[in-house]
Amino acid sequence: MHFTIISGSHRSWSQSSKVANYLANNLPLGVEHNIIDLANNPLPLWNDHMWDSSSTEYQETSHIRHPMKEILTKTDALIIIAPERAGMVPAWLKNFFLYCSSQQLANKPALAIGVSAGINGAYPIAELKVSSNKNAQFFYIPQHVILRNIKDILNNSDNIQEREQKTIERVHYSLAMLKEYALAMIEVRKSWVSDIENFPYGM
Ligand SMILES: Cc1cc2nc3c(=O)[nH]c(=O)nc-3n(C[C@H](O)[C@H](O)[C@H](O)COP(=O)(O)O)c2cc1C
Repeated sequence: MHFTIISGSHRSWSQSSKVANYLANNLPLGVEHNIIDLANNPLPLWNDHMWDSSSTEYQETSHIRHPMKEILTKTDALIIIAPERAGMVPAWLKNFFLYCSSQQLANKPALAIGVSAGINGAYPIAELKVSSNKNAQFFYIPQHVILRNIKDILNNSDNIQEREQKTIERVHYSLAMLKEYALAMIEVRKSWVSDIENFPYGM
């Protein structure tokens, strides 16, 4: 069982990276992982050259795209960490989705995680669920996590307040549910009904 954790902030030393590392250290038993941190992953803004494998731009980004494609192809589930940016999902994360395809991700479950320095963080969850997965055809499980006041929590402190404890319980529950969905979906992807070739861009 393999999870891919996507840290959607392009800032170095971001809170989203902190969350990615926290999740990596708290995955359910038997789950391996990779982290794709968009801060260390200078995918250029997608443009038409990406259709053309002979273009310089296409070839110059192959050292980033190929390992990413390999990870996404082998993974069983995604954890998508989206820091709230002016009430939106960061543009870098939306750009990342342009590089994803149904060949890699169709019928794989994803856990959405919204991050806020304050008391918001709901907008990225809503936006992810409305627009991010149509072409790549992964899907969001009903559980999601909003991490508010992020600088104050998940710091591995000895002094955890009740509110942080409740959030951590939600994190563990959501990760456990993601594993169950991932297990179930392995069978769905094997089904003869699954037809990515004829429906590569979803519905
Ligand atoms: C340009 C910008 C816009 C932001 N907009 C929001 C926002 O709309 N709502 C919010 O709760 N936090 C907002 N924040 C704060 C983020 O929630 C905060 O940076 C958080 O720590 C996660 O970002 P990080 O992973 O890059 O550290 C914004 C931060 C930046 C840099």
